[in-house]
Amino acid sequence: MRISEETIRRIKDAAIIEEVVGDFVSLKRKGANLWACCPFHHEKTPSFSVSPAKGIYKCFGCGAAGDSVKFIMDIEGLSYPDALRYLANKYNIEIEESYTPNELHEQARSQRESMLVLLNFAKNFFKTQLLASSEGQSIGLSYFKERNIHLSSIETFELGYSLNDWHALEQAALKQQFNPELLEKTGLVVVKQSQDKTQRYDRFRGRVIFPIHDLSGKVIAFGARALKTEDQPKYLNSPEIEGIYLKGETLYGIFQAKKAIRQADHCFLTEGYLDVIAMHQAGIANVVASSGTSLTEEQIRLIKRFTDNVTVLYDGDTAGIKASLRGIDMLLEQGMNVHAVALPEGEDPDSFIRKQGAIAFKNYLQAHTTDFVSFKACILLTEQVRDPLKKAEIVREIIQSVAKIPDAIKRELFIQQCTTALQVREEIIRAEISQMLWKAAQQRKQEQENILTNKAQHQPDKSLPPLPEEPFGEKYDGIPDELVDTTRVFQKSVTHIINRHEQECIRLLLKYGQHYLEDNLKLWQYLLHEIDDIEFHTPLYRRILEMYKDAILQGEEPDVQYFIRYASPEVVAIVANITESKYEASPNWELMHNIYIPKETDKLPIAVYENILRLKKEFIEKLESETFAEIKRAEKHQNDQQVVSLLQAYSQLAKQRVAIAKELGNVVSVRSLL
Ligand code: UTP
Ligand code: MN
Repeated sequence: MRISEETIRRIKDAAIIEEVVGDFVSLKRKGANLWACCPFHHEKTPSFSVSPAKGIYKCFGCGAAGDSVKFIMDIEGLSYPDALRYLANKYNIEIEESYTPNELHEQARSQRESMLVLLNFAKNFFKTQLLASSEGQSIGLSYFKERNIHLSSIETFELGYSLNDWHALEQAALKQQFNPELLEKTGLVVVKQSQDKTQRYDRFRGRVIFPIHDLSGKVIAFGARALKTEDQPKYLNSPEIEGIYLKGETLYGIFQAKKAIRQADHCFLTEGYLDVIAMHQAGIANVVASSGTSLTEEQIRLIKRFTDNVTVLYDGDTAGIKASLRGIDMLLEQGMNVHAVALPEGEDPDSFIRKQGAIAFKNYLQAHTTDFVSFKACILLTEQVRDPLKKAEIVREIIQSVAKIPDAIKRELFIQQCTTALQVREEIIRAEISQMLWKAAQQRKQEQENILTNKAQHQPDKSLPPLPEEPFGEKYDGIPDELVDTTRVFQKSVTHIINRHEQECIRLLLKYGQHYLEDNLKLWQYLLHEIDDIEFHTPLYRRILEMYKDAILQGEEPDVQYFIRYASPEVVAIVANITESKYEASPNWELMHNIYIPKETDKLPIAVYENILRLKKEFIEKLESETFAEIKRAEKHQNDQQVVSLLQAYSQLAKQRVAIAKELGNVVSVRSLL
């Protein structure tokens, strides 16, 4: 046990040093402080002082010093917590104690173990009731028989029956000295406060019981099916139990299936408890159920420990199919190979097997297992494909699933698959996928940035000196040290701007490279010539520019399609993104409203010129800041000669920058008139 921080603060605030010390020695005021003969060493004239303002004492004779707590520790020989207790007592402060992490851990562990023991006891109790009590036999067992559950399955899945009695389990458990609180915590007993009295009763009554096992076979929860469902929920399940049972992290049947899943390197995923059991009986042991909830990442990771191959087997009703489509996307995202089977309408594996038998079921699986693209296409494209908008939406929906496959080679296979299944041109699919990948990447980037900025906010404020208006003015008398840091800031902002202008440059090249700016002068010819000596800062843009130049050297004039066809996925993603315009006006708009919307092609020459100037300006600024750093370095090494020549280069750069800025100003104002 540990005294809470909050209590410690309250004690320290309350303790008045002169009162605390005054209980042991008599203090006399002299000026701002109080004085006494030191209680910690022998003396005749007072050298022990107490400062009420600071809340501390100090002996000028023996050096003893501290606050109220320290004083009590030393004078009473108490530990720190006991000294705190002493003061809390003196000042009537209630002590709030908290457990140390270790103590908490120990407690939780022993509580967890007790709960597991109790759950195991309950499982055995339910099983005994099913097999040995007359109610269990006549009601529970005959229900299982009716549903064609074999005795061997009752063993394998440890099925049971809960008596139709309000206290059967509770009484049995209490008789075995189980803690009533744990009965409540595990959800086996429900506690209800109603006005003046507390009611306790068994949660599961008159139901067949499906224990839910963890990976190691321990029972962690129960599902309980009512025999008649007219007036009550079909299934009751255990509540989630912290540290033991989280619904979204559990798969029904995983313990019984794991060996078979590993052996087959394949797992069937279905919905219900009875589907799992029925498939086991049909000789398919590699099967688990998500138990009616939508699939979670944790559940998928659980399967992934044994295999990467999953076949989704959902009910043939619309709700089942909806659930399966969501699940398929999640499985794809986790890198699973996904197949799916649509069962006949209204059937689940259990009902299918009961009606048609195990062999027919296996044959059906063989005949109807499809990859997920065909599955989705089949389900979504059955009706209303006449409407082209609707079709586009469906196609996008399917392509979205493909984009979620993390492995590029697998993705490639499905792109081929899509073109045939969906009858859509490959380029369109590629462009769509690039868009999605790009968006996902952007989202990740944004999330990372958010994390970074949040972190930065918590860091101590090391504010940088402000950027001087004209950092490299006429007068030069050495660069002051505190400016060195600002070069970093300066460079960073330059980088940021460059990204945007480099991007614009690439966009112009790809989108309008073959446009004629004048007779006999194509945009790419002009642009590439002008930026010949400029080095791009952003690696991906630099790569795209190089690819572009290479293609030109080989007699090609690359456009967007060229890149989409030949570039790597990252490049394709960027190309697709930057060449896709947000504000492309539809031609109809102009006709409808009888107005003229200036097209980008109308302004191309000036847009290109502006872009060139901006690239040059930013490039020069980057050189400037590099030169600046070099000057600083040369100064440090007292290399005067180098400093002088660098300064010359530096002022040249500054002059160029000013000239370009001026020209840029002209261009911008001209452009605004267009
Ligand atoms: P189903 O309604 O498909 O039931 O729910 P089932 O498994 O086919 O059961 P039978 O054949 O009608 O007896 C599928 C799964 O959803 C969960 C259960 O895990 C069930 O097996 N479920 C369903 C619940 O948890 N609560 C409910 O009320 C219903
Ligand atoms: Mn069923």
